[in-house]
Amino acid sequence: MTHESDATLSIPGRISLHRGRAPQPTPGKGEVSIHVHAAGVNVTEVDWYPTTHTKAGTPRENAIPGHEFSGVIAALGEDVTGFTIGQPVYGMNDWFAEGATAEFCLTQPASIAPKPVTLTHAEAATIPIGALTAWQGLFDHARLQPGERVLVHGGAGAVGLFAVQLAHRHGAHVIATASTPTLDLVKQLGADVVIDYKTARFQDLVHDIDVVFDTVGGETRDLSWPLLKHQGRMVTIAGDAETSTDPRTKDHFFIVEPSQTQLIEIAKLLDAGSLKTFVNAAVPFDQAASAYAKTIPQKLGYGKVVITLAD
Ligand SMILES: NC(=O)c1ccc[n+]([C@@H]2O[C@H](COP(=O)([O-])OP(=O)(O)OC[C@H]3O[C@@H](n4cnc5c(N)ncnc54)[C@H](OP(=O)(O)O)[C@@H]3O)[C@@H](O)[C@H]2O)c1
Repeated sequence: MTHESDATLSIPGRISLHRGRAPQPTPGKGEVSIHVHAAGVNVTEVDWYPTTHTKAGTPRENAIPGHEFSGVIAALGEDVTGFTIGQPVYGMNDWFAEGATAEFCLTQPASIAPKPVTLTHAEAATIPIGALTAWQGLFDHARLQPGERVLVHGGAGAVGLFAVQLAHRHGAHVIATASTPTLDLVKQLGADVVIDYKTARFQDLVHDIDVVFDTVGGETRDLSWPLLKHQGRMVTIAGDAETSTDPRTKDHFFIVEPSQTQLIEIAKLLDAGSLKTFVNAAVPFDQAASAYAKTIPQKLGYGKVVITLAD
């Protein structure tokens, strides 16, 4: 059964977004349909390869952005177990799938988990990409150990805020870069040292680093290699790393993957008050294109912007 859904934001070209209508998606075998209540905004997504290309490499038109969400299960496809219709969930869907800036989206059960019960949908939608990227970078890729020294570049960003908190909880010595308005916040969240990247040269202040978690890229990453100990590890998520010609950078870049197990662990931390998230601004669907164009007023100046589609 399909219904017309008029709350659908899509990208016809590389950077312009428009409101449109699409059939309500029906979950196939092994899929679930989500009634989206809120979707996270990653502005760089409009330039990513899957936004303009299909998996087969052919041009893609009218891609719906936003691949992290909080909502409720609207329908279950054949062979899906472990979830019930109406259950609140949060998570991600595939970059090549139609995204969550719409009333409904499809995903796989392994890419979602029960929504943290203490959070609103808007708060929960800030989490999947930021927290999973931080978790996977620190623990799966860098294998951060308690007592190690970690340098988080972009410590007040949507990913960096989680990286600082998770590294601190893990018993690491956390050094972060951020700018003046967010220095205190990053310190309160667990950074032992916060360096204002606009007024100081971190490369003169930092040494003997076990793990660099780079969310900034470019010169910041280039200047960080010499700060690593002999056995130190770099992880970079910055978009420019994907197209970098530096083999070291290419080797240390990764793209976040959905993980139900990690989303469950992250929800436990959030519900226990051991991990905090920040809604930079929550805007209704009719301001979604402005959110991607970064022309909406920010509420906090840090954290993630979300688009709300239902209460
Ligand atoms: N590979 C992946 O799987 C993956 C996943 C998520 C995100 N990403 C990418 O990772 C990057 C960060 O994402 P995000 O969502 O965290 O972005 P964000 O919320 O916009 O945060 C970026 C942060 O970097 C800070 N910053 C800017 N220039 C800096 C510098 N020279 N030194 C230190 N900090 C600096 C900004 O601080 P001010 O605002 O104070 O300047 C801001 O707090 C983006 O390029 C995004 O596309 C990749």
